[in-house]
Amino acid sequence: MRLPSTAQVQRFRARVTEVLGLQHDDSRLEMLGKLLMDRCAASGARDLETYLALMGTDDERRALARALTVGESYFFRVPAQMQAFAEVALAAALDASDGGSVRVLSAACAGGEEPYSLAITARERLPAEAARRVEVRAIDVNPAALERARRARYSAWAFRDVPDAQRARWFRQRGAEFELDPAIREAVTFDELNLAGDAPLPRDLDVIFCRNVLMYFAPDVMRRVVDRLTASLRPGGYLFLGASETLRGLSTAYELCHTHQTFYYRLRPDGAEPHAPPPTLTPSPTLPPLDATWVQAIQRGAERVRALTEQPTPRAERARPSPRSSLERALLLFREERFDEAMAALEGADHAQDPDALLARAALLTNMGRFDEADEACADLLALDDLSGGAHYLRALCREHRGDLEGAIREDELASHLDPRFALPAMHLGLLTQRRGDSARAARCFARAIDLLHDEEPERLLLFGGGFDRAALLAFCRARLHSLEAPR
Ligand SMILES: C[S@@+](CC[C@H](N)C(=O)[O-])C[C@H]1O[C@@H](n2cnc3c(N)ncnc32)[C@H](O)[C@@H]1O
Repeated sequence: MRLPSTAQVQRFRARVTEVLGLQHDDSRLEMLGKLLMDRCAASGARDLETYLALMGTDDERRALARALTVGESYFFRVPAQMQAFAEVALAAALDASDGGSVRVLSAACAGGEEPYSLAITARERLPAEAARRVEVRAIDVNPAALERARRARYSAWAFRDVPDAQRARWFRQRGAEFELDPAIREAVTFDELNLAGDAPLPRDLDVIFCRNVLMYFAPDVMRRVVDRLTASLRPGGYLFLGASETLRGLSTAYELCHTHQTFYYRLRPDGAEPHAPPPTLTPSPTLPPLDATWVQAIQRGAERVRALTEQPTPRAERARPSPRSSLERALLLFREERFDEAMAALEGADHAQDPDALLARAALLTNMGRFDEADEACADLLALDDLSGGAHYLRALCREHRGDLEGAIREDELASHLDPRFALPAMHLGLLTQRRGDSARAARCFARAIDLLHDEEPERLLLFGGGFDRAALLAFCRARLHSLEAPR
């Protein structure tokens, strides 16, 4: 086959997303072009069209999964999650199980490190009778990963976060490798299954670990996969994601849990959405992209308003602004730091069920130094949307104002977890941990804030940046970092 054109590689990329869910940015087009040529040749397809059709077959999907998935994993990854798994999730499931079994799924299990860690954790932390009732199932789309998992032999690198004594308890050294105890091996069952496909997932699960795979999926696939996992989980069941992954923007069916210094999710007991979804006052033809924050949506709204205000509006319509347009107007006033007028614009309409307006109101109140009211506004917003990173960040400011340093740190940690690209909580955490005398952590927070500030969205800086622009915030963080790094 001749070298594929860019358009052909892009079609291949789109098919890869359809078949495996995986998303690749433009920097990966060259790699995809080579893979396309290799796969066309290996599959015997006579042209691109034939090959694109072939991609849906089991054999070709397996070949692509071998080539395109990232199987990086290790034992007891994020030990705090293992503790929360045993002490919160398993404990609750065993309590509710009435002597029956407790079902755990490791979704995207790679070479078995994760499901075996879960099985070992159950045995280490539960009485023998309870541990026997824990069934661990594991799935992955890559057959090569499943072969490794079933073989259950690992190099020392797979134990980089495991104390030697713990490794020695469950593994026997065989040359340069470590072989898993057969009792643990037999406690886990493995299946080939595509999270992005249609084949049913195991049902009635009590706990799901789905770590470090959603981040490789296209946004609509992430949502579909989370919906599939949700349908498989029992009401009240627990979902653990990777350390840099969040359900924010993907599902509101869960509550966020924060114990053992780690985050995870619990499916609300009735499995239903927590609150009535906010009314859509200005329906948009397409969903906003997953990584869009509400402020981007509002910015688009503001542009619409600007366009609208350039057209003459009939007097009757002008008299009663819709809640959404009053929000847009409030944000324009906010930009000009006309806080009182912005507040008046918000108060002129009924925004009780609109998370965007509640967040704008809370941000305004914080900027005006009305912290008690801001705290109440955050509480109203969190009652509607408890995964709002912005609300947790504003709550951190309110806690700090009240002198509750630890509470402020906790709220910033929540905000950063829910929205890992949000720069302001990282900066604020730097300030708070520096005040607490934890210089090493403060330096890490400022370094992270500097990283994030480069890409932080202008509208978010406007709302949460306390009146400083990007350059000022960057200079501030750099100066703090410098002072922490300078020899004393
Ligand atoms: C980085 S590993 C994560 C392993 C483990 N969960 C952890 O956190 O250590 C990602 C795994 O996701 C699997 N994967 C990728 N796409 C998948 C899909 N569509 N369905 C099921 N598994 C998938 C890959 O084969 C790989 O083993």
